[in-house]
Order: sequence, then structure tokens, then C-alpha cells
Amino acid sequence: MKLSSFLHFAAFGLGTIFFRKKAPILGTVIVTDKCNLHCRHCSVNNITSIIHPYEQIRREMQQLYDMGVRILFFCGGETFLWKDGDKTIRDLVIEAKNMGFLIVNVVTNGTFPIDLPEADLILLSLDGDKKRHNAIRGDTYDTIMQNIRRATADNICFYMAINQINKDCVRDVCRAARDTKNVRAVSFNFHTPYPDTKELSLSREEKARCCDMITQMMKEGAPVFNLKSAFPYLCDNRFPTPCHQCVVMENGKLSVCGRCVEVPGLCDRCGYFFVAEYTLLFRGNLKIIFEMLHTYLKYI
Ligand SMILES: C[S@@+](CC[C@H](N)C(=O)[O-])C[C@H]1O[C@@H](n2cnc3c(N)ncnc32)[C@H](O)[C@@H]1O
Ligand code: SF4
Ligand code: SF4
Repeated sequence: MKLSSFLHFAAFGLGTIFFRKKAPILGTVIVTDKCNLHCRHCSVNNITSIIHPYEQIRREMQQLYDMGVRILFFCGGETFLWKDGDKTIRDLVIEAKNMGFLIVNVVTNGTFPIDLPEADLILLSLDGDKKRHNAIRGDTYDTIMQNIRRATADNICFYMAINQINKDCVRDVCRAARDTKNVRAVSFNFHTPYPDTKELSLSREEKARCCDMITQMMKEGAPVFNLKSAFPYLCDNRFPTPCHQCVVMENGKLSVCGRCVEVPGLCDRCGYFFVAEYTLLFRGNLKIIFEMLHTYLKYI
């Protein structure tokens, strides 16, 4: 990370902590909800299947920038399905960088060839060993691994949503993150139980076992892009929600935290690690602050 970016984030963090400000720093633009997969745990794919036009996405990016957002995520649906004329997701990343966003990340299912060297991180969903990943995501594991090996940069971070199907695969994904070319780290979430996928959610004890495994793997040198000080809060769902420093933009609609903010009762059972990490950070939790400094400087 550049020193100027670090100083910007440090000033934002101090202002938010000391003056209890609610301005956002992290924004997500949903470029489409269209997807080539129908994963077992996912409730947000192919609802409209609209690919939003370039000019609309540019305006949404500018609106987020003007609000103070400097960490931008592109998400979907499947981001690599996005196109407008000859423009692709890569053009959106370059545009975002030119606009002044300091960190630009893309979330993808990894089933398309990966040529995105301008992104700071490509969060690529890997949901277990081959058997469990394919049980959740269809027969995609081998294609994804081939795309990763052939990727044009080493900016990939695995992204695993832990649920009832793959809860015993934390170790496999940590090892894959450590041993796979072009992969820098792995970042975890627990399943967030939307009404149609409640049966996949983990109990408190199951979450605690997963966190113990992640901690053990961290000790063994696995590159984990999460903060272990947040684990107890995540297991008990006792972190503040929603995260006011995060916003999401989907087809012109701006929501605080996630597009899930309007699902009744969901925030009380939220499994997204970034929510716990950011809300605890901005409440001034010292352990989280030091661990975040250490972790972010290592992987971005
Ligand atoms: C909605 S997908 C969009 C990007 C891309 N299609 C992909 O699969 O990475 C973004 C991430 O959300 C995760 N996800 C989907 N439903 C979830 C849920 N109910 N709880 C936690 N994570 C979930 C996916 O596994 C994926 O890592
Ligand atoms: S690939 Fe991503 S958007 Fe598509 S169904 Fe799976 S989790 Fe949902
Ligand atoms: S806190 Fe609520 S809005 Fe934010 S990600 Fe979790 S469930 Fe979604």
C-alpha cells in the first residue's frame, strides 16, 4: 500500500473513532446480478439478470467517490460476465483507479480466464476441497484452478463462505491458499442465513470450531486475510450491525452495509467477517486496530 493511501485511511479511522462519524470509506458496486452459476448458498443471483450499462456504473462510482469512499469493490452476480460494447470488468477497474479510488477489488467465481492485473485484490470464491466446492458450486473446481494457474498476476485471494456443506474444509482452503501459484491469501465468511438458505447456517459451536481451525492454520503459516481478534464476536454474533462505514450501490439504490440490510432479522445473524472487523475497528477496539494494520500491510 502506498504511504499516501495509508495516511488517508489512518486520518479517516481516527476521525471516525474520535468524532463517532458515520461517513463511508468502503463501497461496493453491483455490476450485474446475472450469473452463470446457481450456488446452493446464494440468494442474490439472476433475480433481474440485468447487466447495468457502463455510464450508469460510472455515475455510481463517482457518487461513491464524492461521498468519501476510497475502497471500492465490484461484485455481482458474476462480475466477469459484465460487459458494455467492448468494455469489460477490467475497464471498470482501470476507470476506478483513474477516478482516485485507493484500493479496487473484484469478487468473482473464477470460472472465466483471469486477466486483471490492475486490481489490488481479486476475491475468488473457493468453497472447499473439490468435492464440497462442487457440491455447492457445480462442477467448477478444475476450471477455476486452471484459470488461477494461468492468471496474469498474483493478486488473487480466496474467498470462502463457510456453511453446513463445507464446514470441515477450512484446512483444505488454507492449504490451497498457501500452496497455489498466484494466490496471496484466503478470507473467510460464515454463511449469512437468508430466508431461503437458513438450513445452511452454523451453530455457535460449529463457528467456534472453524475459528479454532483458522487460528491453528494461521499459526502454521497459512496466509489468512482476517483478524483473529474478531473471531469471538463473530461466533456469538455480538458485533455491532450494520456497518455505517460500508455502503453498497445496486442499480441506483444505495444501502448502508449490504444489500441484505432490509432482510428482517438478518443483521442479528450476519456472518460477514468484514462487518465485525470494520465495526469493531471504528469503535476503537485496540487489538483489532493493531491486527488490521499488520494484516492489511501484509496483503495489500
Ligand atoms: C454473491 S457472490 C458474487 C461474486 C461472485 N459471483 C462469486 O461467487 O464470488 C460474492 C460472495 O458472496 C458469497 N455468498 C453468497 N451468499 C452468501 C451467504 N448467504 N452468506 C455468506 N456469503 C455468501 C459467495 O460465496 C461469494 O464469495
Ligand atoms: S457464483 Fe456468486 S453470484 Fe453466482 S450463484 Fe454463486 S455465489 Fe451467487
Ligand atoms: S450486517 Fe446486515 S446488512 Fe450488513 S452484511 Fe450483515 S446482514 Fe448484511
